[in-house]
Amino acid sequence: MLDLSPETGKISVKPPVKYRKNMELKSHRFISFFEPKQATELCMTASVEKLPDRKVIFEEGEGPDFLYLILEGKVEFRKSQNGNEYKTIAHALADDFFGEFGILDGRPRSAQAIVCDRATLAKIPRQHFIEILGKTQITVVLNLFSYIIERIRNTTSEYAKELVYKDRMVLLGEMVNTIIHDLKSPLSAINLASSLVKEIHPDPETEEWCDIIKAQAQQMLSMAQELLEFSRGEGKLYKEPINLIEVLGIFEKLNHAYFQESEVKLVIDCPEYIVFNADQNKILRVLQNLANNSVDAFNKQGGVIEISASTTLESVEILFQDNGPGIPDSIRDRLFESFVTYGKQTGTGLGTAIVKSIIEAHGGTISFESRKNRGTTFNISIPIE
Ligand SMILES: Nc1ncnc2c1ncn2[C@@H]1O[C@H](COP(=O)(O)OP(=O)(O)OP(=O)(O)O)[C@@H](O)[C@H]1O
Ligand SMILES: [Mg+2]
Repeated sequence: MLDLSPETGKISVKPPVKYRKNMELKSHRFISFFEPKQATELCMTASVEKLPDRKVIFEEGEGPDFLYLILEGKVEFRKSQNGNEYKTIAHALADDFFGEFGILDGRPRSAQAIVCDRATLAKIPRQHFIEILGKTQITVVLNLFSYIIERIRNTTSEYAKELVYKDRMVLLGEMVNTIIHDLKSPLSAINLASSLVKEIHPDPETEEWCDIIKAQAQQMLSMAQELLEFSRGEGKLYKEPINLIEVLGIFEKLNHAYFQESEVKLVIDCPEYIVFNADQNKILRVLQNLANNSVDAFNKQGGVIEISASTTLESVEILFQDNGPGIPDSIRDRLFESFVTYGKQTGTGLGTAIVKSIIEAHGGTISFESRKNRGTTFNISIPIE
């Protein structure tokens, strides 16, 4: 490491603590921008440090003293919101570098940099970097700048995407709010009418159908309510011990007519003893969204939906399978993202995003496997508290 002595102003060369001949550092993208002489100087100037998980590299507002090259691991950049809450704005991985803006313009750090898991960083002091930059050819500087500009472009386009996403969510929230308002009076009329029918025809079959009508009317309202919560990023859970086979029974009843009409056979394979803490309505919503997708995918040709469940010591495992055409290749990587839809005239692309948000709110995970013309299986795992 170069050390500028305050007394003599002479530069002495000190070996950095570790990795003096670190090959990774020499082959780092940032170093490769420079000519061999300056590249060697930069490597000699750098000190390499291994940092533990959550180690703060610099705070927002701090003066810029180093440029950082990531040799290994991951770094997160966060901006503080209302004091001690943080919002992650970006990540950087091995072969990336950061902190160059402050180095070039001398202004305070615009975000906090913190280690994710662990990281090995090479630090180049600002003063030495500026000196070396002054000695390099203009083409080196131009190459470096065009790389930095490309990075700014990418960040800007990510930011623009996020803005569009937020706008769509706000719009969705406003729209659903209006729908909820307008739905309330026809739904209470449906409730009233089904209570009257029940009174006029008090036989068990009519009573059961009237209860289904009421439950469906309530479902419509809670669906809209959930959509509103989702668009606002809220979503409260009302957890209580639920028996999975009973919830699947309700799901079957609510969908009896829908499945019949769509020529869908529902197969349920669930032991009676599975009880876990969850929000029943939200679990019903998960099943419903997945079922709607399977029915849509069957495209009026009919098909089989099979829901099977089991437990481990820590979790409830639910498999939701269909024998449909499979999820289109082009959206598999982004399936759980909001507004990703394919091949549907009226799809909003929110069904699976809502499913994922509900499962994650329960501390669980969801993944899927899908094969063309063979079908799709969603694997849901929810921890038993
Ligand atoms: N079981 C499935 N089989 C085949 N394709 C599926 C299946 N589930 C989802 N897809 C595909 O994934 C897309 C995204 O599904 P998602 O439920 O997120 O949105 P959507 O169904 O398009 O709209 P929304 O659910 O908001 O009405 C669907 O448009 C469909 O193309
Ligand atoms: Mg859907």
